[in-house]
Amino acid sequence: MARRWTNDLTWNDVTPKSHWLNRRQIIAGALGAAGAASIGGPLAAQVDNDNLQPNTFEEITTYNNFYEFGTSKEDPARYAGQLTTQPWSIQVDGMVDNPGDYALADLIDRLDVEERIYRFRCVEAWSMVIPWNGIELKDILERVGVQEGAKYVAFETLVRPSEMPGVRRAVLDWPYREGLRLDEAMHPLTIMATGIYGETIPNQNGAPIRLVVPWKYGFKSIKSIVRITLTDEEPPTSWNMANGREYGFYSNVNPNVDHPRWSQASERVIGGGLFAQRQPTLMFNGYENEVASLYEGMDLSEFY
Ligand code: MTE
Repeated sequence: MARRWTNDLTWNDVTPKSHWLNRRQIIAGALGAAGAASIGGPLAAQVDNDNLQPNTFEEITTYNNFYEFGTSKEDPARYAGQLTTQPWSIQVDGMVDNPGDYALADLIDRLDVEERIYRFRCVEAWSMVIPWNGIELKDILERVGVQEGAKYVAFETLVRPSEMPGVRRAVLDWPYREGLRLDEAMHPLTIMATGIYGETIPNQNGAPIRLVVPWKYGFKSIKSIVRITLTDEEPPTSWNMANGREYGFYSNVNPNVDHPRWSQASERVIGGGLFAQRQPTLMFNGYENEVASLYEGMDLSEFY
């Protein structure tokens, strides 16, 4: 994929959402000026993805993984509608200055909601391009006050058997759990999404709030979050617990390290049609310039 790096774009250059459907292009991971310094200087690159064509709302909301509603791609769209997402509260605990049970509205009140068009690459080797609306996770963490010594952020999804038919079966050890290193969580590309295409995020995509970490395999992007814990130990994560040989804690997109049962070198683009060519998978899913420095010293040919 041809990619052009520029340093002269700002958020004002992002196409208004009414034009999303009409224009090929836009941003992925444009960096706020404030966040740029830590990852490559004040003129850190912003991405102008000439080739980034968002998937349709229909594609994004009918082909999902959300095992709390069943294991087929169609189950989430079929069953997630019954999930009650209001009221919604998030327990924030561990190494934070202001722990508590926050009403979602209070936790994100007055924080900037931004439009981010990101590649999304599932570990199963399919991909989409999704126009999210979301808040930088960093802003939420700063609001609750991360204490010195905290090194990781752990997340948990709701478990509500009366509305989530999938959790009645022990497909995974519920609740669905995920985690990030603190520097990954504070990275400006890491968002908590509350919308898609400017619409409230549909339940099957993780309403009312889900993580999006665009340089990692999709299973890291945990949905319908009810708990955020700051800790100094690497937290247990669902897919790693289920099969540690196949799913690592880091799980950064890497075309050079295959899954034990399939190649990760290329991906099937959802919506591309039955006979579409597979597309080469990009290192860190195309966000290498922004995030590679987080992993200096790691041998990226290794499984993590
Ligand atoms: N979060 C929860 N709670 N439960 C899940 O089953 N599936 C993950 C991730 N987050 C999952 C989850 C996987 S495997 C992927 S690929 C993405 O959600 C899919 O997100 P999407 O359905 O919005 O495309």
